[in-house]
Amino acid sequence: MEEMKKEVLFGRDLIAKRVEELAAQISRDYRGREPVVVGVMKGAFIFMADLIRRLDIPCVVDFVRLRSYGSSSVSSGRIELTKDVETDVAGRDVLIVEDIVDTGLTLTYLVEVMRARKPASLKVCAFIDKRLRREVPFEADYVGFTMDDGFVIGYGLDFNEQGRFLPDVFIVRDL
Ligand code: PRP
Repeated sequence: MEEMKKEVLFGRDLIAKRVEELAAQISRDYRGREPVVVGVMKGAFIFMADLIRRLDIPCVVDFVRLRSYGSSSVSSGRIELTKDVETDVAGRDVLIVEDIVDTGLTLTYLVEVMRARKPASLKVCAFIDKRLRREVPFEADYVGFTMDDGFVIGYGLDFNEQGRFLPDVFIVRDL
């Protein structure tokens, strides 16, 4: 970890400010409702924890975990739900919270799975959107930050399980 060359991309103060803005927007959009906020493990856990504590509407919390087989840069890469939600989402407002959208394959799959359960509404909030890396068209409804290509760690994001605990988001150099 110490040898990893990295620079701050999004610092903690900027993150806090952006999370506050997202939470305000989500609170306005869901006024009078109680969404089921579904976090995608593991990466989204810190973002989701900060986001829901800044909402001024009530919500229900649940989690999913997904695994992709083979290279995620191959669009035929298979994705499997390895941990499902425990909430019956039929007729509920579902808000999926993800740390990063890259190829778009994970969220395309998850949205399809959730949509089949007939929620009242379904939206996605992504902390970081790497638009240039898309292999399938996917647009999140709420986006914290956009970035070009590059590997990021911190604020829940990892590199080989390292760096999730860092309070800022760093871009990793010379991998
Ligand atoms: C990352 C991220 C998304 C997915 C995005 O998860 O959290 O779930 O990849 O990639 P895609 O748009 O190309 O499908 P990862 O598999 O690294 O698991 P983690 O959240 O446990 O770190």
